[in-house]
Amino acid sequence: MSTIVLVVYATRYGSTREVAKAIGAELRGNGLEVDVRPVREVRSLTGYSAVVLGAALYMFRWHRDARRFLSRHRKALLERPVAIFALGPTHDPHDEKEWQDSNAQLDKTLAKFPWFKPVAREMFGGKFDPNSLRFPLKWFAGAEPASDIRDWKAIRVWANKLVEKLEKSS
Ligand SMILES: Cc1cc2nc3c(=O)[nH]c(=O)nc-3n(C[C@H](O)[C@H](O)[C@H](O)COP(=O)(O)O)c2cc1C
Repeated sequence: MSTIVLVVYATRYGSTREVAKAIGAELRGNGLEVDVRPVREVRSLTGYSAVVLGAALYMFRWHRDARRFLSRHRKALLERPVAIFALGPTHDPHDEKEWQDSNAQLDKTLAKFPWFKPVAREMFGGKFDPNSLRFPLKWFAGAEPASDIRDWKAIRVWANKLVEKLEKSS
Protein backbone atom coordinates (compact mmCIF):
# COMPACT_ATOMS: atom_id res chain seq x y z
CA MET A 1 0.00 0.00 0.00
CA SER A 2 1.32 3.47 -0.80
CA THR A 3 1.82 5.95 2.01
CA ILE A 4 -0.75 8.74 2.17
CA VAL A 5 0.01 11.06 5.05
CA LEU A 6 -2.39 13.39 6.78
CA VAL A 7 -0.61 16.32 8.43
CA VAL A 8 -3.07 17.95 10.83
CA TYR A 9 -2.47 21.01 12.95
CA ALA A 10 -4.09 22.99 15.75
CA THR A 11 -3.24 26.68 15.84
CA ARG A 12 -4.47 29.98 17.20
CA TYR A 13 -2.22 32.46 15.44
CA GLY A 14 -0.97 30.50 12.43
CA SER A 15 2.64 29.66 13.30
CA THR A 16 1.85 25.94 13.71
CA ARG A 17 0.05 25.94 10.34
CA GLU A 18 3.21 27.24 8.66
CA VAL A 19 5.28 24.52 10.32
CA ALA A 20 2.74 21.86 9.29
CA LYS A 21 2.92 23.11 5.70
CA ALA A 22 6.72 22.99 5.73
CA ILE A 23 6.61 19.39 7.03
CA GLY A 24 4.05 18.48 4.38
CA ALA A 25 6.22 19.96 1.63
CA GLU A 26 9.24 18.03 2.85
CA LEU A 27 7.34 14.74 2.96
CA ARG A 28 6.04 15.41 -0.56
CA GLY A 29 9.57 16.09 -1.69
CA ASN A 30 10.34 12.56 -0.52
CA GLY A 31 7.67 11.13 -2.79
CA LEU A 32 4.86 10.71 -0.26
CA GLU A 33 1.30 11.76 -0.94
CA VAL A 34 0.34 14.37 1.67
CA ASP A 35 -2.69 16.39 2.77
CA VAL A 36 -2.19 19.25 5.23
CA ARG A 37 -5.38 20.21 7.07
CA PRO A 38 -6.59 21.97 10.22
CA VAL A 39 -7.41 19.35 12.81
CA ARG A 40 -10.94 20.66 13.30
CA GLU A 41 -11.85 19.89 9.70
CA VAL A 42 -10.96 16.23 9.90
CA ARG A 43 -13.89 13.87 10.42
CA SER A 44 -12.26 10.58 9.46
CA LEU A 45 -8.81 9.11 8.89
CA THR A 46 -10.04 6.66 6.28
CA GLY A 47 -7.77 6.72 3.26
CA TYR A 48 -4.71 7.89 5.20
CA SER A 49 -2.00 5.41 6.09
CA ALA A 50 -0.11 7.68 8.49
CA VAL A 51 -0.70 10.85 10.48
CA VAL A 52 1.41 13.78 11.67
CA LEU A 53 -0.31 15.82 14.39
CA GLY A 54 1.08 19.22 15.36
CA ALA A 55 -0.20 21.77 17.85
CA ALA A 56 0.96 24.71 19.90
CA LEU A 57 1.17 24.71 23.68
CA TYR A 58 -1.12 27.16 25.44
CA MET A 59 -1.44 27.76 29.14
CA PHE A 60 0.72 24.73 29.98
CA ARG A 61 -1.22 22.29 27.80
CA TRP A 62 -1.27 21.05 24.25
CA HIS A 63 -3.92 22.86 22.17
CA ARG A 64 -7.42 21.63 22.97
CA ASP A 65 -8.15 20.64 19.36
CA ALA A 66 -5.17 18.25 19.40
CA ARG A 67 -6.44 16.64 22.61
CA ARG A 68 -9.90 16.27 21.11
CA PHE A 69 -8.43 14.76 17.97
CA LEU A 70 -6.67 12.08 20.03
CA SER A 71 -9.88 11.24 21.89
CA ARG A 72 -12.11 11.20 18.83
CA HIS A 73 -9.86 9.16 16.58
CA ARG A 74 -8.41 6.77 19.14
CA LYS A 75 -9.24 3.60 17.22
CA ALA A 76 -7.96 4.87 13.87
CA LEU A 77 -4.81 6.31 15.45
CA LEU A 78 -4.01 2.95 17.04
CA GLU A 79 -4.02 1.40 13.57
CA ARG A 80 -1.57 3.85 11.94
CA PRO A 81 1.89 5.29 12.59
CA VAL A 82 1.44 8.74 14.12
CA ALA A 83 4.13 11.37 14.64
CA ILE A 84 3.56 14.47 16.73
CA PHE A 85 5.13 17.87 17.18
CA ALA A 86 4.46 20.83 19.41
CA LEU A 87 5.37 24.51 19.31
CA GLY A 88 6.10 26.11 22.64
CA PRO A 89 9.31 27.91 23.56
CA THR A 90 9.40 31.47 22.24
CA HIS A 91 12.33 33.05 24.07
CA ASP A 92 16.03 32.24 23.84
CA PRO A 93 16.42 29.03 21.77
CA HIS A 94 19.28 28.05 24.12
CA ASP A 95 17.27 28.48 27.31
CA GLU A 96 17.16 24.81 28.28
CA LYS A 97 14.79 25.43 31.15
CA GLU A 98 12.10 26.77 28.84
CA TRP A 99 12.45 23.74 26.54
CA GLN A 100 12.28 21.38 29.48
CA ASP A 101 9.16 23.13 30.76
CA SER A 102 7.46 22.94 27.37
CA ASN A 103 8.38 19.27 27.02
CA ALA A 104 7.05 18.59 30.51
CA GLN A 105 3.78 20.27 29.53
CA LEU A 106 3.53 18.05 26.49
CA ASP A 107 4.35 14.98 28.63
CA LYS A 108 1.58 15.92 31.01
CA THR A 109 -0.96 16.22 28.22
CA LEU A 110 0.14 12.93 26.64
CA ALA A 111 -0.03 11.15 29.99
CA LYS A 112 -3.81 11.52 29.71
CA PHE A 113 -3.67 9.31 26.61
CA PRO A 114 -1.67 6.29 27.83
CA TRP A 115 -2.76 4.20 24.84
CA PHE A 116 -1.14 6.65 22.44
CA LYS A 117 2.36 5.69 21.29
CA PRO A 118 3.65 8.11 18.62
CA VAL A 119 6.44 6.85 16.38
CA ALA A 120 8.15 10.26 16.68
CA ARG A 121 7.76 13.32 18.83
CA GLU A 122 9.41 16.74 18.60
CA MET A 123 9.29 20.17 20.21
CA PHE A 124 9.90 23.21 18.02
CA GLY A 125 10.40 26.83 18.94
CA GLY A 126 7.37 29.00 18.27
CA LYS A 127 6.39 32.50 17.31
CA PHE A 128 5.02 35.17 19.59
CA ASP A 129 3.43 38.46 18.56
CA PRO A 130 1.97 40.47 21.45
CA ASN A 131 0.08 42.71 19.00
CA SER A 132 -2.07 39.85 17.76
CA LEU A 133 -3.27 38.85 21.23
CA ARG A 134 -6.79 39.54 22.41
CA PHE A 135 -8.07 39.75 25.95
CA PRO A 136 -7.52 37.81 28.22
CA LEU A 137 -4.34 36.52 26.56
CA LYS A 138 -3.10 40.05 26.01
CA TRP A 139 -3.41 40.62 29.71
CA PHE A 140 -1.58 37.36 30.44
CA ALA A 141 1.34 37.69 28.01
CA GLY A 142 1.07 41.07 26.26
CA ALA A 143 4.19 42.56 27.90
CA GLU A 144 6.54 39.97 26.35
CA PRO A 145 8.60 41.07 23.31
CA ALA A 146 7.79 39.69 19.84
CA SER A 147 9.83 36.67 18.76
CA ASP A 148 10.00 33.94 16.17
CA ILE A 149 12.43 31.13 17.00
CA ARG A 150 11.06 28.55 14.60
CA ASP A 151 14.09 26.69 13.26
CA TRP A 152 13.16 25.84 9.68
CA LYS A 153 16.23 23.72 9.15
CA ALA A 154 15.46 21.60 12.23
CA ILE A 155 11.86 21.29 11.02
CA ARG A 156 12.95 20.04 7.60
CA VAL A 157 15.49 17.64 9.12
CA TRP A 158 12.82 16.17 11.40
CA ALA A 159 10.37 15.81 8.52
CA ASN A 160 12.97 13.94 6.48
CA LYS A 161 13.60 11.54 9.32
CA LEU A 162 9.87 10.88 9.55
CA VAL A 163 9.62 9.40 6.07
CA GLU A 164 10.94 6.00 7.06
CA LYS A 165 8.88 5.85 10.24
CA LEU A 166 5.64 6.75 8.50
CA GLU A 167 6.25 4.32 5.67
CA LYS A 168 7.38 1.42 7.83
CA SER A 169 4.12 0.26 9.28
CA SER A 170 1.84 1.31 6.43
C1 LIG B 1 -1.13 33.45 25.66
C2 LIG B 1 -0.08 32.47 25.31
C3 LIG B 1 0.17 31.40 26.13
C4 LIG B 1 1.17 30.48 25.82
N1 LIG B 1 1.40 29.46 26.69
C5 LIG B 1 2.42 28.60 26.44
C6 LIG B 1 2.71 27.55 27.35
O1 LIG B 1 2.05 27.34 28.36
N2 LIG B 1 3.76 26.74 27.07
C7 LIG B 1 4.54 26.91 25.96
O2 LIG B 1 5.49 26.15 25.77
N3 LIG B 1 4.24 27.87 25.04
C8 LIG B 1 3.23 28.73 25.27
N4 LIG B 1 2.95 29.73 24.37
C9 LIG B 1 3.74 29.85 23.14
C10 LIG B 1 2.98 29.31 21.92
O3 LIG B 1 2.95 27.89 21.96
C11 LIG B 1 3.72 29.77 20.65
O4 LIG B 1 3.57 31.16 20.57
C12 LIG B 1 3.22 29.12 19.38
O5 LIG B 1 4.09 29.42 18.29
C13 LIG B 1 1.81 29.58 19.03
O6 LIG B 1 1.32 28.80 17.95
P1 LIG B 1 0.18 29.29 16.95
O7 LIG B 1 0.67 30.55 16.26
O8 LIG B 1 0.04 28.15 15.99
O9 LIG B 1 -1.08 29.53 17.73
C14 LIG B 1 1.94 30.64 24.65
C15 LIG B 1 1.66 31.70 23.79
C16 LIG B 1 0.67 32.60 24.10
C17 LIG B 1 0.38 33.73 23.16
